[in-house]
Amino acid sequence: MLNSLFDVQGRTAIVTGASSGLGRTFARGLHAAGANVVVVGRRQSLIDALAGDLGEGAVGVVADVATTSGREQILEAALDRWSTVSILVNNAGTTVDTRPDARDEDLDEFARVIQVNLTGLFGLTQLVGRHMASNGGGSIVNIGSIYGIVASTGGASYVASKGAVHSLTKELAVQWGGVGIRVNAIAPGWFPSDMTKHVFDTPGGQRMLERQVPLGRGGREDELLGALLFLCSDASSYCTGHLLVVDGGYTAR
Ligand SMILES: NC(=O)c1ccc[n+]([C@@H]2O[C@H](COP(=O)([O-])OP(=O)(O)OC[C@H]3O[C@@H](n4cnc5c(N)ncnc54)[C@H](OP(=O)(O)O)[C@@H]3O)[C@@H](O)[C@H]2O)c1
Repeated sequence: MLNSLFDVQGRTAIVTGASSGLGRTFARGLHAAGANVVVVGRRQSLIDALAGDLGEGAVGVVADVATTSGREQILEAALDRWSTVSILVNNAGTTVDTRPDARDEDLDEFARVIQVNLTGLFGLTQLVGRHMASNGGGSIVNIGSIYGIVASTGGASYVASKGAVHSLTKELAVQWGGVGIRVNAIAPGWFPSDMTKHVFDTPGGQRMLERQVPLGRGGREDELLGALLFLCSDASSYCTGHLLVVDGGYTAR
């Protein structure tokens, strides 16, 4: 029984934002654990490279989660290949390039961040949720952030979008528990990726991590995989509406 606790063998997972960073690691991890993976992103060369590298059990979809047609394309590609989807990892995300004072944050930029991080996530979740509800249920994992819990002091749109993702997770969990869909979220702390280069690649950023993270460092790529596998698999079968914080203790202060 223990051996099969974290089993995702033969299940089909959609992972958005898989062209780089955390999403690429999530796709690799789920694939290594035996799931079929649909890897999604806008950068064709990176998606093709990942799908090609994973080989059997992987399909790449070049699509924008912020558009209706992109979201439809993602589900269609998954169903064309494997007929059913039982895991959705809503990881695609963006932020503002600079870290503006909220008094200066451009409203179009604010709307763009919300469109990708929240509206796009919800739109894809609706589509996949309808499918899961009539196909035996499933597990949805939303990637939130510690900056949906505490202030970030730079990027009101990002913080607002992630706080909303955490609330949405609970709402969907309560609405969809009866149709067998579990909805949980992970709130990562600082992990190396394109989005966090400004921290990981600078001495000032490294000093901030040493000072502000109780474990004294940023996370390593593979340190989110345990949380992801837990929430995707039957190991968390009695867990829904949960926010799993993986942050080296950052928000425990
Ligand atoms: N790294 C951290 O420390 C950290 C901490 C907390 C939360 N997070 C969250 O983790 C998630 C992944 O971020 P990351 O750190 O790995 O950054 P990243 O390397 O910049 O990855 C972001 C991913 O999202 C994809 N994406 C962005 N807009 C998209 C769109 N409209 N449609 C489809 N895909 C889109 C990007 O692919 P394309 O450009 O190819 O579309 C890319 O694969 C985000 O939700 C982020 O907020 C990260």
